[in-house]
Amino acid sequence: MSIFNKKEESLKGKKSLVIYFSHTGENYMSDGIRNIDKGNTEIVAEMIKDITGADLFKIETVKEYPYNYQDCCNVAKQELNLNSRPELKRYLSDISQYEVIYICSPIWWNYMPNAILTQLEKLDFNGKIVKYVITHEGSGIGACNKNIEKCCKGAEIREGLAIRGSTVNNARDILENWI
Ligand SMILES: Cc1cc2nc3c(=O)[nH]c(=O)nc-3n(C[C@H](O)[C@H](O)[C@H](O)COP(=O)(O)O)c2cc1C
Repeated sequence: MSIFNKKEESLKGKKSLVIYFSHTGENYMSDGIRNIDKGNTEIVAEMIKDITGADLFKIETVKEYPYNYQDCCNVAKQELNLNSRPELKRYLSDISQYEVIYICSPIWWNYMPNAILTQLEKLDFNGKIVKYVITHEGSGIGACNKNIEKCCKGAEIREGLAIRGSTVNNARDILENWI
């Protein structure tokens, strides 16, 4: 069999949804702490929407995460340690109309932010194709695959993609190929 036969089919054209979380404010970049008006993961999520025509769902917490980078790190660490599920402004309850679910998340302390878990745990992933992108500043996917495996039971989980947050503006070609 030729290796070309093994290539995964393109997912363009399948009814798709992008679920994402992204933080604006101060963020750590390779050249230090910088203020960002639009989160890195949001840029990725919008590119996927643009490429696939997917619907977008943004996860937003009732209590916003701090603007200040260090304060945000502290809150995130506390949530991780307590395994908390922060309350969201709105919840997605039904994904039955979609074939493919793209999950886009930053990595926080080597895992996905707890706010994403709040949402994912409410959904039925049976029979879905799940693809996920993690934006990071050095850890790659880290242990986010564990979050995905736990939250997306019954789904066909495809290999995750890691994109360095400070390079997301140049990631369109990478995303096109990955999709
Ligand atoms: C609270 C917090 C924790 C982070 N932890 C990690 C980490 O463990 N590993 C890493 O490579 N980057 C870490 N980062 C960097 C972010 O994952 C990265 O900048 C990401 O692109 C941010 O995406 P966003 O702008 O969509 O929120 C962390 C950032 C924050 C704010």
